[in-house]
Amino acid sequence: MYHSKISGLGYYVPENVVTNDDLSKIMDTNDAWIQERTGIKERRHVVRGEDTTTSMGVKAAEIAIQRANIAKEDIDFVIFATLSPDYYFPGPGVLVQRDLGLRTVGALDVRNQCSGFVYALSIADQYIKTGMYKNILIIGSEVHSTGLDMTDRGRGVSVIFGDGAGAAVLSREEDVTKGILSTHLHSEGQHAEELALIAPGMGKRWITDVIADNDPNDESYYPYMNGQFVFKNAVVRFSEVINEGLQANNLQVSDINMLVPHQANLRISQFIQQKFQLSDDQVYNNIMNYGNTTAASIPIALTEAWEKGKIKSGDLVVLAAFGSGFTWGSAIIRW
Ligand code: COA
Repeated sequence: MYHSKISGLGYYVPENVVTNDDLSKIMDTNDAWIQERTGIKERRHVVRGEDTTTSMGVKAAEIAIQRANIAKEDIDFVIFATLSPDYYFPGPGVLVQRDLGLRTVGALDVRNQCSGFVYALSIADQYIKTGMYKNILIIGSEVHSTGLDMTDRGRGVSVIFGDGAGAAVLSREEDVTKGILSTHLHSEGQHAEELALIAPGMGKRWITDVIADNDPNDESYYPYMNGQFVFKNAVVRFSEVINEGLQANNLQVSDINMLVPHQANLRISQFIQQKFQLSDDQVYNNIMNYGNTTAASIPIALTEAWEKGKIKSGDLVVLAAFGSGFTWGSAIIRW
């Protein structure tokens, strides 16, 4: 058995910065409310005709591949995590295979929302461990802004989410004391509708019903979030899954050099930091600048932390995520 390691990281965010004050011009909100509840100061929104979930993912991937010091021909598999694909089908995995000009390698789409990147990392890790693949490209990318309810009605959700993409190359590591030590994945579908976007779906409400209704007030095309319920579950599950990962490797909280939590809400990250008694240097947050970018948040934050020299060889890095599904997970990495 081999281990897998992160050999390259990259991220891309659209240039268009949208501040809290910008949002307060189009809906009944304000900078103080948003910062107090979420820590968010600004986020990026795509400009029509410029970026898509796939194109941002491709830009992040190009940087990650270059930093991994491999050629595009060396990529054996693609895993793309998103809740905001360019098309309903096919998913963005095959679009990346096409737009990056990769060999006709397999391309898998992951539908696990905020936990998407951790799920993708876990899948890639298994393929590399068994020796089936040597280099796997993992992307988390989201365009939220084009699908949010930017009116007073949607303000509880739309101020939180932002657009962006992050990517990692996972490569074979011969030294089994290094790389990804373990990953831990969970779900609790009982709460599926507490954070969800119901349409377009092929479930109880058919597309033909939606077309026949032709209702301009149909909210099922906008994301719904039971904010307080999500918050309460998030802090519990984040803690559990970090502890689970540490215990599986006989490690202590004091062994953590860097925790990169999914950037759901700065208050959630701060709660976890306090609970585990970690210093500011041991937790990386950038939600202030990008909002919650769902599947992209961990790879963007991880890339930034690495670029700033906050992650060094030998460090214990913990990734943890929680989100819609509910799904949650962690990855324990010896850098
Ligand atoms: N600006 C101003 N006021 C707003 C607002 C906004 N953007 N959004 C909601 N409000 C108002 C509400 O209408 C409500 O007003 P009322 O008291 O007159 O009815 C008030 O603020 C409180 O709303 P509430 O939804 O109870 O706020 P909250 O304290 O729960 O904060 C969240 C809302 C979304 C910030 C918070 O619940 C949260 O962060 N939850 C977790 C979300 C999360 O992490 N999601 C991602 C998971 S991956």
